[in-house]
Amino acid sequence: MSLDKTPEKIHTMFNMISDKYDFINNLMSFGMQMFVKRNCIRLLNPAPQDTILDLCTGTGDLARIIKSLQPDSAVTGIDFSEKMLEIAKNKGGEINYIQHDITNLPFRDNEFDIATIGFGLRNIQNTPKAISEIHRVLKPGGKFLHLDFGEKNFISKIFDKIIPILIKPFCDNIFAYNYLIKSKQEFLLPDDLIKEFQRKGFKLAKRKDYCLGVISCQILEKV
Ligand SMILES: C[S@@+](CC[C@H](N)C(=O)[O-])C[C@H]1O[C@@H](n2cnc3c(N)ncnc32)[C@H](O)[C@@H]1O
Repeated sequence: MSLDKTPEKIHTMFNMISDKYDFINNLMSFGMQMFVKRNCIRLLNPAPQDTILDLCTGTGDLARIIKSLQPDSAVTGIDFSEKMLEIAKNKGGEINYIQHDITNLPFRDNEFDIATIGFGLRNIQNTPKAISEIHRVLKPGGKFLHLDFGEKNFISKIFDKIIPILIKPFCDNIFAYNYLIKSKQEFLLPDDLIKEFQRKGFKLAKRKDYCLGVISCQILEKV
C-alpha cells in the first residue's frame, strides 16, 4: 500500500517532529547533510542580486546557506509547517519566511531567478502540480535545484536498515522516521525524476551525486 501523503497528515507530522528535526538529520547523515547542502549551493552558483525561493524550506538550511554565500540576494523560504518555520526564523538571517502550501504558490509568474527544494518534493502528494508551480514562478532561463535521496542501491538499503535503530533512542515519533524510509523507497529515481522535470519544461544543466548516489542533486533550467 502506498503512503498517505495528504497535506494535512504531512503538515501534522512535520509540526510534531520540528524540535528534533535538525538533530536527527545530522545524526542520520553522520553530519554529512550540511556539507552536501553547501556543496550543492556552490554548484548552483547564485548571482549577487538574484531573487531566490527555497521551497519546503523547513528549518531553513538551504535558505541560510544561499544568503551567507550571496548576502545581497533576496531569499524567500516557504513551507506549510508553522513549527518548522518558527525554528528557521529563530536562527536569524535576512530571509523572508512565508507559511504556505507549495502546490499553490502565492507569487506572480516569472518572479524568481532561482528555486531550490531540498528533501521536499518526496513529501508532496501532488508532485506534478508542485513542479508546474515551480516552473511558473521561475523566470525563463531561471535555475531550479532539486536535492533528495537518489539511487536505491546497496548502500541505500543498508541506510534503510540502520537509520530506525540509530534514531530510536532519540525520537519519540518513530512513525515519522518509518515514513521517511518508506517515502524514500517509493520516490522516483533521479533519471525518472529528470524525465518528469523535462516533461514540465525544464532542461538538465548539472547533476551531482553524493554518498555513492544515495543522495542526488539536479540543477535544471526553465526552457
Ligand atoms: C524533510 S523537510 C525538508 C526541510 C529542508 N528543506 C531540509 O532540507 O532540511 C520537508 C519540509 O517540506 C514541508 N512540506 C511538505 N509538504 C509541503 C507542502 N505541500 N507545502 C509546503 N511545505 C511542505 C514540510 O513541512 C517540511 O518542513
